[in-house]
Amino acid sequence: MRSIDSIPDMRAASRAARAKDQKIGFVPTMGALHEGHLSLVRRARELSDVVVMSIFVNPSQFGESEDFAAYPRNLARDAALAAEAGVDLLFVPQASSVYPPGFSTFVEVAGLSDRLEGAVRPGHFRGVATVVTRLFRIVGPDVAIFGQKDAQQTAIVRRLERDLELDVEIIVAPTVRENDGLAMSSRNVRLLPEQRLAAIVLYRALRRAEARVIEGEKDPRAIEALLAREISAEPLAALDYAEVVSPDDFRPAISLAPWAMAVVAARFGGTRLLDNAVLSAPGGGAR
Ligand code: PAJ
Repeated sequence: MRSIDSIPDMRAASRAARAKDQKIGFVPTMGALHEGHLSLVRRARELSDVVVMSIFVNPSQFGESEDFAAYPRNLARDAALAAEAGVDLLFVPQASSVYPPGFSTFVEVAGLSDRLEGAVRPGHFRGVATVVTRLFRIVGPDVAIFGQKDAQQTAIVRRLERDLELDVEIIVAPTVRENDGLAMSSRNVRLLPEQRLAAIVLYRALRRAEARVIEGEKDPRAIEALLAREISAEPLAALDYAEVVSPDDFRPAISLAPWAMAVVAARFGGTRLLDNAVLSAPGGGAR
């Protein structure tokens, strides 16, 4: 594995791969790697000849009061994990080269960015869309892999790619979970032991929602009420939202057919966690 920290070197490496007709697969991350990230690398490995991972804690997607400074960083550990999982090129740019003095162009995916995560974290998706566009332009991937765990981010990246014709195939990989069901997240390490136990409530609530749909519940609002009730029953969880949305626009779903997505977010002390599940009414054509 080769580590690259300059944008011109990254461009040159991609150019060299393309000249050899090699397909470039790209996994953008903010580091603090876990099995979820590594599963994206393995998918990229299957789909491409050269696998590029970026590690960049993107300042523009953190709000003023958020955890940018405290975001976990451990490049030596991340590099070892990335190499082992099959990354060929590890791109670790400096913030001052991604956002040089005078940088003033931002990408905003309207509508999709306003609700749920976007409402709780104003400006967050503008930062994500801007850095993803910037990274796509530098790396020039054929295919990029994102995690279903961040479902709204994935929908925004798909929309961005389509609207700007970025010519990158977007692949979404399933959420990797801990043994007890908690979705893996770089933020899980911050949970105190009792919060870590409580955090399973997100997964448990989503499984109950799925079961209720299989039993015949067809009303998205009833499922939302069930999710909110389950999560609020956990004293260490502060619910941010529990909604059943249409997966394309993230607006409240009017039906579970053919399918809809349950999205939940809650805070455990100072740590915010997200999770989601696809819901499909029986006979509704599950995906
Ligand atoms: P980060 O949170 O580091 O996540 C990088 C990628 O890993 C994202 O596509 C995310 O959805 C995926 N991922 C995280 N946890 C996962 C899990 N448990 N299972 C499967 N995939 C998982 O998301 C970002 O960084 C940033 O917003 C980024 C896209 C890099 C832009 O800065």
